[in-house]
Amino acid sequence: MKAAIIGYGKMGHEIEKILLQRGHTVALIIDQNNTDDLCADKLAGVDVAIEFTMPQTAYDNIRTCIEAGVAIASGTTGWTERLPELQALCREKGGAMIYSSNYSLGVNIAFRINRRLAELMNGCDNYDVRIEEIHHTQKKDAPSGTAITLADEAIARLDRKSAWNCIEPQKGETPQHKADSIEITSLREGMVPGTHTVTYESEDDVLELKHTLKSRRALATGAVIAAEFVCGKSGVFTMDDLLHV
Ligand SMILES: NC(=O)c1ccc[n+]([C@@H]2O[C@H](COP(=O)([O-])OP(=O)(O)OC[C@H]3O[C@@H](n4cnc5c(N)ncnc54)[C@H](O)[C@@H]3O)[C@@H](O)[C@H]2O)c1
Repeated sequence: MKAAIIGYGKMGHEIEKILLQRGHTVALIIDQNNTDDLCADKLAGVDVAIEFTMPQTAYDNIRTCIEAGVAIASGTTGWTERLPELQALCREKGGAMIYSSNYSLGVNIAFRINRRLAELMNGCDNYDVRIEEIHHTQKKDAPSGTAITLADEAIARLDRKSAWNCIEPQKGETPQHKADSIEITSLREGMVPGTHTVTYESEDDVLELKHTLKSRRALATGAVIAAEFVCGKSGVFTMDDLLHV
């Protein structure tokens, strides 16, 4: 597989290592100092692009790849209100794309458990639910895309919840405990790669679904596996397609 890496930051570097370990070629690397190189000419012959940049740049980067006929796996978080536009464009052009707010295979299994847990908890009104996410201090968006996915997918299955709200204690924000909202607490600490906990609590007990990432390697490996999955295909995919769940 001939791959392009778009965004040569922490994830881009890790992805490069995994691509090479798995026998792929890195044909093009784009970062903010050579953004003009992300064009149809330079993308010619590239099978798949892996995009991990910034919320402000993801949309244009992905659009360029779709228009150039290059399959794309993107993991940039904090911009996904425009994702449906690109998914529609991808279908229209017969391209291939996969997007996930978290490429860890373990997190994607946790997403599935979270959905089932919410279905089971829908009948148990005596439990309230909250989410906590902890990431390294350089993370730019809050709450994490993963926490938003966990919250949205629980809200879709819990009649008593209709929204989520985020509090950032480091900014002096304090819990709000709105009955119809899932509160997401976003914490930023040291070098933490990513920890997510969904907690259901009644007066008498606590049930927790927790995923702790030990390193970025799990994310980079999942992103490369996702790129391998979309390479040569046509369509819009999620990690559920890859995991057959
Ligand atoms: N989906 C996942 O599994 C997952 C995992 C980790 C991080 N992320 C997300 O991926 C993104 C990147 O994370 P990171 O930790 O590598 O961040 P980072 O800040 O280390 O790297 C981002 C890189 O993008 C570059 N960049 C900025 N604008 C660009 C442009 N127009 N074209 C190309 N490159 C550009 C920056 O120079 C930087 O090198 C963030 O949104 C983060 O939240 C997602």
